[in-house]
Amino acid sequence: MHHSTLTGLAGLIVFALTHTGSAAGPAVRITVDTDHPGHAVSPLLHGVFFEDINYGADGGLYAELVQNRSFEHREHLFAWGTVNRGGEGTVTVESAEPLNAKNPHYVRLSVRTPGSGFGVANYGFGGIVTKTGENYLVSLRARAAANYGGALRVVIEDETGRPLGDCALTGLSEKWQKFDGVIKSTGSATHARLVVVATAPGRVDLDMVSLFPENTWKHRRNGLRADLVKMLADLHPAFMRFPGGCIVEGMDLPNRYQWKDTIGDVADRPENWNRWQDAMGDATAPQYYQTYGLGFFEFFQLCEDLGTEPVPILNCGMACQYESKQLAPLDQLGPFVQDALDLIEFANGPVTTRWSARRAAMGHPEPFHLKIVGVGNEQWGEQYFERYAVFQAALKAKHPEIQLVTGAGPGVDDGFWKLAWDKFRNGTPADIVDEHYYRPPQWFLENATRYDVQERRGPKVFAGEFAAHDGPQHRPTLRAAVAEAAFMTGLLRNSDLVAMSSYAPLFAKAGASQWAPDLIWFDNTRVYGTPSYHVQALYSRNRPDVILPVSVDGPPVTLPALPAGSVATYGAPPRPPYRSGPLPALFVAAGWDRQAGEVVLFVANPYAEERAATVALGGASHAATAGKVIVLASTTPDDVNSFEAPATVVPREENLNVGGSELSYRFPASSFTVLRLKMAQ
Ligand code: AHR
Repeated sequence: MHHSTLTGLAGLIVFALTHTGSAAGPAVRITVDTDHPGHAVSPLLHGVFFEDINYGADGGLYAELVQNRSFEHREHLFAWGTVNRGGEGTVTVESAEPLNAKNPHYVRLSVRTPGSGFGVANYGFGGIVTKTGENYLVSLRARAAANYGGALRVVIEDETGRPLGDCALTGLSEKWQKFDGVIKSTGSATHARLVVVATAPGRVDLDMVSLFPENTWKHRRNGLRADLVKMLADLHPAFMRFPGGCIVEGMDLPNRYQWKDTIGDVADRPENWNRWQDAMGDATAPQYYQTYGLGFFEFFQLCEDLGTEPVPILNCGMACQYESKQLAPLDQLGPFVQDALDLIEFANGPVTTRWSARRAAMGHPEPFHLKIVGVGNEQWGEQYFERYAVFQAALKAKHPEIQLVTGAGPGVDDGFWKLAWDKFRNGTPADIVDEHYYRPPQWFLENATRYDVQERRGPKVFAGEFAAHDGPQHRPTLRAAVAEAAFMTGLLRNSDLVAMSSYAPLFAKAGASQWAPDLIWFDNTRVYGTPSYHVQALYSRNRPDVILPVSVDGPPVTLPALPAGSVATYGAPPRPPYRSGPLPALFVAAGWDRQAGEVVLFVANPYAEERAATVALGGASHAATAGKVIVLASTTPDDVNSFEAPATVVPREENLNVGGSELSYRFPASSFTVLRLKMAQ
């Protein structure tokens, strides 16, 4: 807020609005000092973290409907079956003279008699979804023995075997060729299959059998699911951290994410097993693979579409420190560092250079304007610091304009975290330190002030993965969301230090997830946001430009200490975990939205009773003209959203009648509220 716009104008304002609710708790007074704006709010404060976990990419955001299209899964015919319509033949997996060295397996149909069709069917990711009247794009690679005189018939069939549409692919030869077709579906189905059959006796080889809806995000080929991108776009993320997460590290080094495997023709992108496939007890998914169809080009393009900053995270020569702990020797880090340099070139270079020519060949000669790169994910310890120093020297020498993100380890209450900050403040410098915390809701309340007291010297903070774990199942409840909202008042208030933040993983597929909580749940046809999704969206969509000082007067709250062991710590704790004193009567942050000319107030009430509060625009000397309140609340803090009831916990918006200098408002129990108060010019 410009100080000058407020001073010297006469008249205070009184707002009056009562919000019906249960008996109020203690009265609270919130005073916003509109005359003394503080620091600017980081424009990158609210972003998202995308990882291919929980079938977030393949089977999720990436719209490919065929699972295991290149027959490279450990079980080569996983998701495939044989189709025999009165014929005779065999289906085998072969590897002689493959499509290319990165795609070494394919399927061979050896057909003695075709009947009315002999071949294979793919069952998708738990069924293929089709909609009446929509087009589906078929593509596949095929070759045939010289004496094969037939075509390939490609059919979408519903779960009863009823054909919903088909196309014929002709002109097979002894050489691998790409074939494309379009099928308009005459019916809607949720468990359809894609059938590919030979129509004559002889030998046919198939690979890269693919089916996409034509209706992807922006109708792109090799595209993304439009409904999931819309959920993402609605968050207005300022940046996207990608592709992980632990997936960057890999279980071991060969399993790590290598961006060069994820660009170019999809048939040239080698499949990699997903490190989450064996990760979690009951949810193991031994056939969870990364096709890399949603690779680095698609990532940059999506960021551009959404107007969001790309934040790639790259392997730093270390595999997962919980798992294999493999290290690239320091004197063999060259290729890892080169990968990072080449990625910057791929994103930003002029088309005349090797990697940016690849970008141009994929249809994007203009640069992607990459500004931030992460070196390593959730790494810790001396082995990390010495590897980071090698990257830092090389990257800063060639690209001083690129900001470097480093990891602070798996926690923020322990020796690894303390050591990381010492190193990045006093040793090899970093620009931004990525902190991760998955903690009980109460921890988030107790840590809402942790950045008020953190030293300002040195790098900025990136709260890169955080989420409240409600109970042993980590249920995505309103309680968890309100605790995160309370904590985020501290991120906003301290956004001179906290430059960036993003929640835990973005997407989770129902019945196929390895990690909870997550922001967005989906299946093959539906999607909903958790209460935490709405908290993230409310912060992101209402981000002010500058902070306004705010005070809360009301009886403080003391909660019993969290049980010992409820917060995991790593390394030798340098000091007892951070814990604030008594908690405030309400958690509040305030700011000024310059363009809208509005004071924006963020208020979390994590308590069991509503709070009657007076909001005073202390120091303001001109009137507000309108107001709006957006409230995220529900019947109980245990409430969650679901496919059946996706709107149980969603924000509700009301206009406020503005009438003076003070607003009376009852903040519901277990709620998060955004108040927007428009000031007269
Ligand atoms: O978010 C899931 C995992 O949690 C991430 O891969 C890792 O960075 C963190 O430990």
